[in-house]
Amino acid sequence: MRTSIAGTGSYLPDRVLTNADLEKMVDTTDEWILSRTGISERRIAAPEQATSDLAIEAGRMALEMAGLEGGEIDLIIVATLTPDYLFPSTAGLVQRALGAHRAAAFDLEAACTGFIYALAIGDLFVSSGKYSRVLVIGAEVLSRFLDWEDRNTCVLFGDGAGAAVLVPSEDGIRGIVSTHLHNDGRMAELLHAPAGGSRRPTDAEALAQKLYTVKMQGNEVFKIAVTKLSDVVDEILDANGLKEEDVDFLVPHQANLRIIKATARKLRLPMDKVIVTVDRHGNTSAASVPLALDEAVRSNRIRSGDTVLLEAFGGGLTWGGALVNW
Ligand code: UT7
Repeated sequence: MRTSIAGTGSYLPDRVLTNADLEKMVDTTDEWILSRTGISERRIAAPEQATSDLAIEAGRMALEMAGLEGGEIDLIIVATLTPDYLFPSTAGLVQRALGAHRAAAFDLEAACTGFIYALAIGDLFVSSGKYSRVLVIGAEVLSRFLDWEDRNTCVLFGDGAGAAVLVPSEDGIRGIVSTHLHNDGRMAELLHAPAGGSRRPTDAEALAQKLYTVKMQGNEVFKIAVTKLSDVVDEILDANGLKEEDVDFLVPHQANLRIIKATARKLRLPMDKVIVTVDRHGNTSAASVPLALDEAVRSNRIRSGDTVLLEAFGGGLTWGGALVNW
């Protein structure tokens, strides 16, 4: 049985932080940020907003599009690396707010690739017949885990959430065709938060050195991202006996416009067939792919019958992709 996406949703906090604002905070320029990343602005959560608050809004919108009530959902998966609490899960808080009292709920951590992982797992639950209504969400409040004095990282990320409702495909044609997940733990420390976990609790010294914030060797990560995303595109095409021209839309992880353009070139796709939100959202980690997907669906760019390739890359190092017959 194939799994289809019956609804999508997304949420962005109101506050916009522009490159001009960042120029006043760290030694950077709009020109550097725009030319190296493609980012012009990003959203920042209000002080009272946590990841679940963003996830709940995105989840509500996705349920509404799918014509479902919270009480009809069987499972909620929230992909995030910035949960409200270490425990209980953010998915459990989403369950409570949506009145999804029947639903099982858990969080999934695969950094920026989290939504692709959640989609793959949700697909397995639906296609196996175990569950018929699964809500998958990618949500982050990364702004709480950034060193706002480190220009190497603070200009790159933003807050947001995106969601999708998975149901059994009615015609067996529309839906998720294949999913592809990868990890290379040998490069775990290229992109990580050194403190805040059991290896290094956030003690006074870790706090003073801001070791709970995102640390990234950007240039190394960049090179690996371009290679692995090219590999996963080949893998998706090969697995489904497709050629580049069979793909109608690319919904990439929104980390860097240069990485997105490299993947588009690989697929020989013109940029009007690539969903780009990085200019306005920055890198929202697990939220980036579902945010872009929701924007493309609601603006009628992606339509029924389109072949859509989703991909992501991030900490872990993780990467992966999915092919969806929309
Ligand atoms: O979503 C998870 C996966 N993450 C990614 O995919 C991110 C991958 N990496 C990247 O997107 C890019 O590597 C960055 C955007 C992070 C950096 O771009 P880059 O072209 O790789 O630059 P770089 O790190 O090689 O740095 C070039 C220069 C350095 O100065 P020197 O050493 O050449 O004098 C940096 O200090 O740019 C400097 N720099 C900045 N200058 C102004 C770094 N950040 C800034 C900044 N403003 N914000």
